[in-house]
Formats: sequence, C-alpha cells, structure tokens
Amino acid sequence: MHWIAEFYRSTPGKKFVMAVTGVVLFAYVLLHMVGNLQIHLGPEELRGYVRLRYAAPGLLWTVRFVLLVAATLHVIAAVQLTVRNRGSRPVRYAVRRYREADYASRTMIFTGVAIAAFGVYHLLHMTFGSVHPEFIRSDVYHNVTSGLHVPPVSLLYVAASAVLGLHLYHGLWSVFQTLGLSSPIYDSWRRAFATVFSLVVTLGFGSVPLAVLLRTL
Ligand code: HEM
Repeated sequence: MHWIAEFYRSTPGKKFVMAVTGVVLFAYVLLHMVGNLQIHLGPEELRGYVRLRYAAPGLLWTVRFVLLVAATLHVIAAVQLTVRNRGSRPVRYAVRRYREADYASRTMIFTGVAIAAFGVYHLLHMTFGSVHPEFIRSDVYHNVTSGLHVPPVSLLYVAASAVLGLHLYHGLWSVFQTLGLSSPIYDSWRRAFATVFSLVVTLGFGSVPLAVLLRTL
C-alpha cells in the first residue's frame, strides 16, 4: 500500500491516475452516446435500450459506482496537478516557451470545469428531474424530447457536446504519452485517433438536441 501512496504523490503517478480514469470515463461516454443514438430509431427502440439498462440493477449500480470513483479521482488529480504546476512556476517566463502545451493545459482546465458543471446540471435535469418541469420518472424518451424542446436548454446540450469533444481531443492525444505508449513515428495515428473519436462524440451527442430543436424528434 505504501508504494501506491508514494507513486500517487509523484507527478507521473497523478498523471497515470488521470489517464486511467480518463479512459474509464471515455468508455462510459461512448456507451452513453450509443445508447442516446437509439432515440433516432424511435421511442420503442429507446425504451428497449432503457429496459435493458434497468434489467440488471446490480450491473447498473456497479457501473454508477465505478463512474463516480473514476470522476472523483480524475477531478482530484487534475486539481492537484494544476496547483503543483502553478506552484512550480512562481515567476512568469520572460519568454513564453512550450506555448502549445500551455494552451492545451489551459484549455483542459476550462473545458474540464465546464463539463463538471454541465454534469451536475445534466443529472438534476435527466436523472433526478429536479430542474425538468415535465419530468416523468422512467419515461426517458419523454424526458429527453420535452426537456430539449426548450431552445436555450438544447443549445446548452449542443455546446456541452462541443466542449466535451475539445476536452477529449486533448485527452486522447496525451493519454498514449502518459501511459508510455507513444513514439514520434505514431504521432499522425494518435492525431487521427483523437480527431475521429472527439468528432464522433461531439456529433453523436449533439445530434440529439439538434434533432429535437429541428423538430424531427
Ligand atoms: C447531449 C445529449 C445527452 C442526452 C440526450 C443525455 C441523456 C441522458 C438521460 C436521458 C439520462 C437519464 C437516463 C436514465 O435515467 O435512465 C442521462 C444520464 C446520464 N448522463 Fe447523459 N445525456 C447526454 C449527454 C451526456 C454527456 C455529454 C455526459 C457526460 C459527459 C452524460 C453523462 C450522463 C451520466 C453520468 C448520467 C447518469 C447515468 C445513470 O444514472 O446511471 N450525458 N443522460
């Protein structure tokens, strides 16, 4: 146990935790997106998918627990790394170097905070229904279509999908490096992988509020 705590205290240890929890969260995001896309097939298809989710409560709660632990560790490690970075740089560089890395990490902090804020709103909106005026427990199709019929709300969901894509782009690009799986030879593949998956996630999630906004759902 001692070496785990020791490893976590180091910067590579925290980056490792961010990478592993990031991969877990990414897997959930992909599954959730594929589930949401069922809505384009019709109400019955979405209800079939939701029934499947609730058919195994043990599995559902395990997934929720893993998700909660992964999200918490991801946020704690991000905050600690940010504080550590700031602390190690008490004097601003006279000439800004590593411009690209600085820009990427600032973008990650901004998009990460925005995703966390959206996550809280989204749970209150679609899971608990406390900020959804027409919420009906267990009627997910109704909750999504009626909830996203309000243009500012659907635009918020479109914006969140874009911000999530941006966050994933940087995350997927750097995860291979953190896990020691990168080499300059494969840079173009990493770039392509990050581009394709971040676009798929943005378009997949964004297609739901856009379809409701355009009245096709
Ligand atoms: C943009 C389109 C999205 C739609 C239409 C949507 C829809 C939904 C719905 C209907 C639920 C409740 C499911 C249920 O009660 O069975 C839900 C839960 C959830 N969503 Fe989303 N979602 C979207 C985007 C996102 C994004 C971008 C994330 C993560 C970054 C996310 C993370 C979650 C989580 C963590 C839950 C709770 C899961 C649970 O209770 O087990 N969603 N979403």
